[in-house]
Amino acid sequence: MTQPVRPSVAIYPGSFDPITRGHEDIVRRTLIFCDRVIVAVGHRATQAKQGLFTIDERVELIKAVFEDEDRVDVAAFSGLLVDFARERNVGLIVRGLRAVSDFEYEFQMALMNRDLHPGIETLFLAPDARYSYLSASLVREITSLGGDMSHFVSPVVQRKLLSKLQST
Ligand code: COA
Repeated sequence: MTQPVRPSVAIYPGSFDPITRGHEDIVRRTLIFCDRVIVAVGHRATQAKQGLFTIDERVELIKAVFEDEDRVDVAAFSGLLVDFARERNVGLIVRGLRAVSDFEYEFQMALMNRDLHPGIETLFLAPDARYSYLSASLVREITSLGGDMSHFVSPVVQRKLLSKLQST
């Protein structure tokens, strides 16, 4: 009988503008069954929303958040996610499903990615329920209006958010 292959590396792609506790939660859950996670900052499928942080700043923030976790790599990519996965020789994509409303879009992306690259699988993880209504744009908006989001982002992200918002 063929032994199941343990996926040793997964890619966790997203826009991460900025990384939140919800994203951190997905990374940590992935490390339960993977040896390494590549957190990959990509451009949005639709560039409809303007970003707050540059891609480099998002990468630096994710590195800072996981500075004590050497099983996490951080990279930026442009172009197709499946091409990035091929380059890195990774066959597993991880995505969080916060609510049923995420499902249709995520399912569409998973099937399209598999169509583009039949060797790729997408695994969906449920975040901690505390983060099921969290999004990066809500964090940006509420912080910019003086609301406290410190329980939804790491201190380093909170500091950078406040200084970025003051300077824009
Ligand atoms: N906790 C908190 N928030 C979460 C979350 C979690 N676990 N999971 C997702 N979110 C939020 C994000 O913060 C983001 O919020 P925002 O819209 O308020 O900023 C939102 O959900 C969207 O999630 P994100 O992970 O950024 O996904 P995306 O839909 O923007 O897709 C890529 C990003 C990089 C995965 C996608 O654009 C991509 O694959 N691009 C490459 C091009 C490509 O291959 N296209 C073809 C795809 S089939």
